[in-house]
Amino acid sequence: MVLIGFGHVGRRFAHLLGELKPELEARGIEPVVMGIATRHHGSLFNGAGLDTVQVAQRVAEGDLVGPASTSPSAHDLIAQFCSKDGMASPGSERDAAPPGSSAEARVVVETTPLDVQSGEPAISHIRAAFAGGAHVITANKGPVAHAYRALADESRTAGVRFLFEGAVMDGIPIFNLVRETMPGATVLGFRGVVNSTTNHILTAMEHGDAFDAALARMQALGIAEADASLDVDGWDTAAKVAAMANVWMDAGLSPRDVQREGISSADATRVVTALGRGQRVKLVGRASRTDAGVHASVRLETLEMSDPLGGLEGQANALEIDTDVLGRVVITQRDGGLEKTAYALFADLLTIAKSVRSSTVRHEEAP
Ligand SMILES: NC(=O)c1ccc[n+]([C@@H]2O[C@H](COP(=O)([O-])OP(=O)(O)OC[C@H]3O[C@@H](n4cnc5c(N)ncnc54)[C@H](OP(=O)(O)O)[C@@H]3O)[C@@H](O)[C@H]2O)c1
Repeated sequence: MVLIGFGHVGRRFAHLLGELKPELEARGIEPVVMGIATRHHGSLFNGAGLDTVQVAQRVAEGDLVGPASTSPSAHDLIAQFCSKDGMASPGSERDAAPPGSSAEARVVVETTPLDVQSGEPAISHIRAAFAGGAHVITANKGPVAHAYRALADESRTAGVRFLFEGAVMDGIPIFNLVRETMPGATVLGFRGVVNSTTNHILTAMEHGDAFDAALARMQALGIAEADASLDVDGWDTAAKVAAMANVWMDAGLSPRDVQREGISSADATRVVTALGRGQRVKLVGRASRTDAGVHASVRLETLEMSDPLGGLEGQANALEIDTDVLGRVVITQRDGGLEKTAYALFADLLTIAKSVRSSTVRHEEAP
């Protein structure tokens, strides 16, 4: 495995791999992190494996991952990893080893920041991984919001998995929910409060807190995007709406196609007035099918307290998915946070391990 991006999420994931080692061992999984790439903090590759917890501690103390002069770029690091002798490509003979033995798979974990206008550099990192026969896990919603159709096709052609559970609602398994537990159901639309930073700010303003102070709290916790205007201007929600619409409704949207508004300190009066009437103001992302295709928006909406989205406090998120056979399904995340996003990466890693195992079994069963 290599980690492209080693910020809040990447470092938390590195710690989680250590904390949940018994869970991995119980499943016969031994993750080896061979490389870490950053933009300004250097990079490191060691085919024998790195002590990621130690590197995470060093970086948190202001140190570099590796010396700038010898640090490979993310692309060079992925290429080096994918060409490493002894690693099996998906579907290769080594991959077909019996369950419980040494089946290996390359995995690239992509956690660079969101570029809402282009989805880069994450899209290029993902393509480089596919080209090298590596599975990809990302918490970056940009690639799914900009290029889901193409990337999903490319991953199928390469015979690898492309998983992104952490891209929306942190660790809450929304993509897994639909993919794994709703076979044959069609998603007709959805609506949700899916940005923790803006929901925290709106809730804080109900209690008379200042917009800037509430935003600063989210920045201090590492929950706001690196560029917090992405949260407050509604771009993060627009990217998530595009991502979900692309995956579930084959919408082919980009964040720019989502009608969008954000929040500002000027919304304080509206928020307090609504609360006085027993209502809440929420930043709601929606998508629905129309004759002209999928329509998607991000709007400040005034909701009743009894609405599943209206009752959300602080960093809570919720999503209502409208389906043909199951009707409306609501999933709520009471408290988000970095550890939940890191867990989503972990869960995706287990999904890949399961895929590799079952392809091993298929190879064994083949005549
Ligand atoms: N934070 C959350 O709660 C959360 C929740 C869900 C999803 N996400 C998503 O997860 C991703 C990571 O979030 P984060 O909070 O961990 O961000 P972050 O703290 O800003 O970390 C980003 C990391 O990516 C590195 N990076 C940037 N450009 C790169 C490049 N071209 N090549 C290699 N590395 C590069 C950065 O290196 P330098 O530090 O050296 O620049 C840093 O190590 C984002 O896409 C975000 O939207 C975050």
